[in-house]
Amino acid sequence: MKIPARFITSAADPAQFPPPSLRELAVVGRSNVGKSSLINALVGHDGLARTSRTPGRTRLLNWFEVTPSPGAFFLVDLPGYGYAAVSADMRESWRPLIESYLGEREPLAGLLLLVDIRRGVAEEELDFMPWLAQRELPVAVALTKADKLPKNKRNLEVMKARRALGLTRDPVAVSTLSGDGIDALWRMALGMVFPR
Ligand code: GTP
Ligand code: MG
Repeated sequence: MKIPARFITSAADPAQFPPPSLRELAVVGRSNVGKSSLINALVGHDGLARTSRTPGRTRLLNWFEVTPSPGAFFLVDLPGYGYAAVSADMRESWRPLIESYLGEREPLAGLLLLVDIRRGVAEEELDFMPWLAQRELPVAVALTKADKLPKNKRNLEVMKARRALGLTRDPVAVSTLSGDGIDALWRMALGMVFPR
């Protein structure tokens, strides 16, 4: 299904964040985990968010206005954290940007936290959880690139990630190639942006 969506703006620092208007759902995860691909898959637009084989592609925050009917919200593509091949300086420059967005952004309604299914949960993801709990932000966890594992191994990873992150519900195994899990994650996303 194609959801009307369009690019709104980018920001390299908090002074460039757009004025708060619609509710926002942030997509976070390590560099190369598949954040931009997932945004495209959720709304059914191939080239909306730019994707790349080269980790560290998204260096800015990017706002996309998404207008399912009824309703409208922003999906926000965040720069990937923790990729070892970019310089330490560059990693350090991203951190305050991401933290100021997640820590202070008033219209932020929830988070899609992406974890590569073959890599599993590591320290960086664990770092997020207490912080999210403190802000009382809802989070949906997606295990990306599920097409790279057979079904039985996927289920094992789902259980491991749930335990590691202390979640109350199963993370969703998703693949932008096969489309697995995309509808389920979209429904969770809408549930966070438009709670009943
Ligand atoms: P940064 O912007 O660098 O942080 O990366 P990102 O998290 O936005 O990842 P991106 O969507 O650019 O995808 C990175 C690579 O993973 C690309 O080569 C994608 O084609 C590939 N990829 C994304 N999703 C999937 C998937 O579901 N399955 C497979 N096999 N590859 C995927
Ligand atoms: Mg990206």
